[in-house]
Amino acid sequence: MKILIAYFSWTGNTRIIAKEMASVLQQEHYVSVFEITPLKERNYWKWLLLSFIPGSKVQIKNIDIDPSEYNHLILGTPKWTLSCPPFNQFISTLNWKGESSIFMTYGGFDEDRYLRSLQKRLEKFGHKISGTLKIKRSEIEKNKYKDKIRRFLVEQQLTR
Ligand SMILES: Cc1cc2nc3c(=O)[nH]c(=O)nc-3n(C[C@H](O)[C@H](O)[C@H](O)COP(=O)(O)O)c2cc1C
Repeated sequence: MKILIAYFSWTGNTRIIAKEMASVLQQEHYVSVFEITPLKERNYWKWLLLSFIPGSKVQIKNIDIDPSEYNHLILGTPKWTLSCPPFNQFISTLNWKGESSIFMTYGGFDEDRYLRSLQKRLEKFGHKISGTLKIKRSEIEKNKYKDKIRRFLVEQQLTR
């Protein structure tokens, strides 16, 4: 299979998960990893402000990928208040009607509602969501996320 992992990460947690997923999947599939990067960096307060605006978007660096080359998309985002602008921008420009799964890292507040609403939004764009995974920041800090990732990928039938 050809799998695309596309993620945004500001403080590095979501990147850790993306890289671990890639290293598991690369043993069986052709995997591309793409990091969503804002055109302009912002400080915490500016990001926080934008994260309170539902659906807010910011410009991101050029996306040099053609999703139609892939069989499965894995999308990763941090949970930001009501909205993660770089990730919003990416998914709104992505033309994808195939199968995807979502992973999200979070601190520990309101994550289930956020993940459900993200899933609905992607389904409206045409994605067929085959699974979702949430990983708490503290699990990453304690290095307790690898089994969870493996189980998730087995459930998705992306690995054995
Ligand atoms: C602007 C901002 C808003 C956040 N809002 C929430 C929140 O509402 N709920 C929550 O559980 N975590 C929240 N977090 C914490 C992040 O979701 C968490 O630290 C995540 O793992 C960060 O991922 P990253 O390191 O890939 O950027 C927020 C972080 C930032 C920077």
